[in-house]
Formats: sequence, C-alpha cells, structure tokens
Amino acid sequence: DAHLSYRDGQLCMEGVRLAELARVHGTPLFVYSSAAIVDALAAYQRGLAGRRSLICYAMKANSTLAILKLLADQGCGFDIVSGGELERALAVGADPAKIIFSGIGKTRAEMARALQAGIGCFNVESLAELDVLSEVAVAHGQRAPISIRVNPNVDPKTHPYISTGLKGNKFGIAHEQALGAYQRAAALPGLRVVGIDCHIGSQITEPTPYLEAMDRILDLVAQIEAAGIPIHHIDFGGGLGIDYSGDTPPAADALWAALLARVDARGYGDRQLLIEPGRSLVGNAGVCLTEVLYLKPGEQKNFCIVDAAMNDLPRPALYQAFHRIVPLQLPRAGASAPTWDVVGPVCESGDWIGRDRALAAQAGDVLAVLSAGAYSMSMASNYNTRPRAAEVLVSGDQARVIRQREAVADLWRTEQL
Ligand code: LLP
Repeated sequence: DAHLSYRDGQLCMEGVRLAELARVHGTPLFVYSSAAIVDALAAYQRGLAGRRSLICYAMKANSTLAILKLLADQGCGFDIVSGGELERALAVGADPAKIIFSGIGKTRAEMARALQAGIGCFNVESLAELDVLSEVAVAHGQRAPISIRVNPNVDPKTHPYISTGLKGNKFGIAHEQALGAYQRAAALPGLRVVGIDCHIGSQITEPTPYLEAMDRILDLVAQIEAAGIPIHHIDFGGGLGIDYSGDTPPAADALWAALLARVDARGYGDRQLLIEPGRSLVGNAGVCLTEVLYLKPGEQKNFCIVDAAMNDLPRPALYQAFHRIVPLQLPRAGASAPTWDVVGPVCESGDWIGRDRALAAQAGDVLAVLSAGAYSMSMASNYNTRPRAAEVLVSGDQARVIRQREAVADLWRTEQL
C-alpha cells in the first residue's frame, strides 16, 4: 500500500508517524489517508472517463462528515439509506441532485424530506413502496424520480450476510417481476421513471458475477423500453471488494473497461451510468490503532488483550472477517513472535479482532488493525458503555481530528432517571 509503509522501522501513513498520532490522541484511534481515498476514487473515474456517469459513494461504509466532504469535493454524489444519511449529505453541502436513496424500508417522513430536498433518484425495492412513494409525492405536488432495484439473481460468491442479489433475500424485485413493476410505476401519478438499479452484494472479488448481472440488467432495459418506458440511467450498485488477506479483486478501472465493453456491444453506451461504491473507496484507506493492555499466555491459547473491541471493530464478530494486524514499530530481527488471539475487553467470547496471529507484542505497544476504513466506525456501538473512538484524517504530513473521542457523559445524554 503506497500510503501505509514502514519508514525507519516506524509505520507511517502518508507523511505521518502513526505512533505519534496514538501518543497525542490516545487509542483506540481510527486514522484515514485522504490520498488513499482520492486514489481509490480515481480508479473509478478513469474507468468511467468520457462517459455520462455519477459515482454515488455508499456512505454507510463510513459516514463521518469530513470523509463525505472530501468525496463531495472530488465530485461524488451519495447513495443514502436513511433520513439520517440524507441529513449528513446535506450537512456537507452535497448537491441534492447527486443523491440517490436506496433501502427497503423508507418511511413516509424520509420520503417527504428527500422530495423536499430534491434528491436525484429513489431506488425503490417493492411494489408497496412504489404506491406509497407515489402517494407521498402527489401529496407534496411532486413526481418522484425513481429506479426500481432489480434482483439479477446472480451469485456474488461472497459471505451470505453481504450477498444481496440472490432470490430469497429481502432486497429488490425479482427479475421476472421487473417489467410488471415498471408498468405499474409508469402508471402512477406521483412517479417519474428515470432508471434501473441493481446491487448484487459486497466484498466481491471476481469480475464474473458483475458481468452476468450487467447482461441480465441490459436484457431488462430492452424489455422495459420495448414496453414504451425509457430508461435514462443504469445504476450498477457497489460491492467491489478490497484486499483484506491476499484477496485479488479486479481494479475498478479494469472492471469498468470490461463492463463498458458489454454495455457498448449491446448499444446502451449512451445511457448515464451510476455506481454506488462504498468499501472500495474507503476500506483500505483506514487503520485502527489499538494499545496492547495485557498479554495472557495460556495452555491452549495465548491472548493479546487490546483496548479496541467488537464495539469499535465489529466485522470479525459479525462475519468472522479477517483484518491484518501489524505493529507500529517493526520488531528487532530475531525477536520471538508467538501466536496470539488478539481480543478486546468486551465481555463476550465473540469479541475478537484476530485469531492465531504471530506478533512480537509487549504490553504498551500499539498495533494497527488494517483495512478498517469501511464498516468499522460506521457500525461502531457503545456496548459495555464504551465511548466511540476518535478519528483522524491524514493529508501529506498533516493530520487533523475529524471526530473527537466520545465522552462517557455523552453516552447517557438522552436518558432520564
Ligand atoms: N449499494 C447498496 C444498495 C448497498 O446495500 C451497499 C452495501 C452498497 C451500495 C455498497 O457496497 P460496497 O461497495 O461497500 O460493498 N457491513 C458489511 C457490508 C454491508 C454492505 C451493505 N450494502 C461488511 O462489513 O462487510
């Protein structure tokens, strides 16, 4: 990784020594590289160069305001899934026309607020939602721009919890029902059909599922347009994976070269293309710094107890996810590196961050948990009344705090005796 490397034995992000950040700001601490985010985005921009396109960052991956602002400044729109995410996008001055609203459970209040803000498109996920959205739009004297999220029924070959485009999960409308749904949408007074949408899953590391999904979507575009309903944009969702443990996902530009070849071959090269990447823009731009509190060697297992836990880094507990864990200071050559389970202080056996890791760690050392830019802070909780970590954004040799560490008193601010 170009933005994370050892210099004189010290782990640095861009031009900043991570040990220095841990010393000044404490741990656990999330640190992000702005250059890594901009570079990840640039791969998509190269892949879509010369096309009418819009990259809508799926902010659920990391919705911290400074990260959103960085991406908005680079021209990104946003894929949102709640009224809360809408307010975050508006708070950083995002162009409402570049906001798309996904999700299966939009409330009437969320729809009304998004209509009032003037968002670019609602990605509708059921027939019932079509009816309600039309009703809300009519009540506000508007026509809501919509896409229907279609389930292409391809296997993304990823973890079942994060695969979404197969039959039998709660997302989208079945391929076979899509045409009927479009006809219904076109007949509703409060809707204006603008596009088609799909999203097949997350942490996808193979191009094949994407290519198959594109073929299935283009088949539908042909059917829907033959029925007299023009499709102005094709939203191809997100889901491109990152390297957590030797994974080799296609590069975004190479993937889009292959996808665009299909789009062009089928004669749809003039349509606007939307994408909703999340993890691939921010995942490998972030690390979580955590201090070793205690070493607890045992008969069956050695435990390395650190000050970050499942409330800060929920992915291992939720998905048995693998994150690399490295020391901030390279150990001396020949230092012994026993095998540890790296675990947090939370009172659950599921609270682990890495298993069977060879580390030359001592109490007081600081470790970096890698690939922690996506779905970590945004999924963090206050379980065990643990304040959420602080976040720092690095740019060159500058580092600034973009979220203060929560204070314990913040945690009961809304409670009453
Ligand atoms: N669009 C839609 C409609 C989505 O549901 C998602 C993610 C994305 C875009 C962005 O996908 P990405 O490019 O980030 O893969 N918490 C899980 C991942 C959940 C993904 C949910 N949907 C994890 O930590 O692996």
